[in-house]
Amino acid sequence: LKALILVGGFGTRLRPLTLTLPKPLVPFCNKPMIVHQIEALVQAGVTDIVLAVNYRPEIMEKVLKECEERYKITIHFSIESEPLGTAGPLKLAENILGKDDSPFFVLNSDVTCNYPFEQLRDFHNSHSSAGTIMVTKVDEPSNYGVVVMHTGSSQIERFVEKPKTFVGNRINAGIYIFDPKMLSRINLQPTSIETEVFPPMASDGELHAFDLQSFWADVGQPKDYIHGTCLYLSHLSNYSPNQLTQPSQHSWVNGGNVLVAPSAEIDSSALIGPNVVIGPGVKVGRGARLQRCVIMDGSRIRDHSWIHSTIVGWNCTIGRWVRIENIAVLGDDVVVKDELHINGASVLPHKSISASITEPKIVM
Ligand code: GDD
Ligand code: MG
Repeated sequence: LKALILVGGFGTRLRPLTLTLPKPLVPFCNKPMIVHQIEALVQAGVTDIVLAVNYRPEIMEKVLKECEERYKITIHFSIESEPLGTAGPLKLAENILGKDDSPFFVLNSDVTCNYPFEQLRDFHNSHSSAGTIMVTKVDEPSNYGVVVMHTGSSQIERFVEKPKTFVGNRINAGIYIFDPKMLSRINLQPTSIETEVFPPMASDGELHAFDLQSFWADVGQPKDYIHGTCLYLSHLSNYSPNQLTQPSQHSWVNGGNVLVAPSAEIDSSALIGPNVVIGPGVKVGRGARLQRCVIMDGSRIRDHSWIHSTIVGWNCTIGRWVRIENIAVLGDDVVVKDELHINGASVLPHKSISASITEPKIVM
């Protein structure tokens, strides 16, 4: 089986984290986002994975070499000299995706769910159309591609990308499976699969929808990244509770779902949770209080700080008695001095903050 992961784009909405690493390598629940996807593809029997890249391939190559060896798969880097959008990269990889008649998976690199690839493939094989789109229901469909099906059928009638007026609440989850013959619909030039390929395929009756049963989130921006983290932790607590940090073993687990890397050092008087992810080598001081937040590798949270709904990037130092909240995001190596309040700020890498930031803004 074959798959292509769309890993282009600059990840602007996930800045400042994507100033340090490309979006697919940003850790999500202590593992690069793309590694979650690769592991699920391997589980479903995929042996050839194309990474469609147009930005900083060098560092991706290093991480992915390790995946190739670990999972005994082939990862092909398909590098665009200009961004080819969400469909052009499929054409660029035609020699791999179209090398035999078997269908191939396509994934947006920033979506998390339980990745039911085998069910998606079985469903796809059960109808004769050229493509299947995984769909999920959301409350705010206007930021996504909306899928409308024929009444009483899984066949897609219309696909409308980011509709301005209400069309429906079933949306494109960013995961597809296609027969190679669909490649003949794409030219080798910048092309959007959502606006240029799906609408005519739907008109031709060549698309079906597969309803995702599990949780789903596009984690390509900070608010959704934090929300997606909560959903993923709750999924672990239902299906793989041993991966979570057990309250019975650590006095600092304050109930709720908490995922802490074994090498992190947490003071016994800290209170962590619910919905917290702590990366390797992090140090958390006395009386610190962390809820609904992500602390990445090597950061240090000093005594009595209070952190809520925040992403603390790599190697940051948060002083004593600091309060950070409201979807704040700190880039790599940010220092926050003692006793400050940070409200919803986005702080670029290597900054040192020595005055409170009381309103959400970008600090460069
Ligand atoms: N290789 C390559 N080249 N990849 C690209 C390019 C490009 O030029 N442009 C975007 N991508 C990748 C992004 O890295 C991401 O993985 C994927 O294509 C989708 O781009 P986003 O920028 O994340 O799109 P979106 O979130 O606004 O909307 C898309 O995802 C939604 C689900 O999360 C659409 O597919 C929507 O229909 C969908 O509902
Ligand atoms: Mg996205």
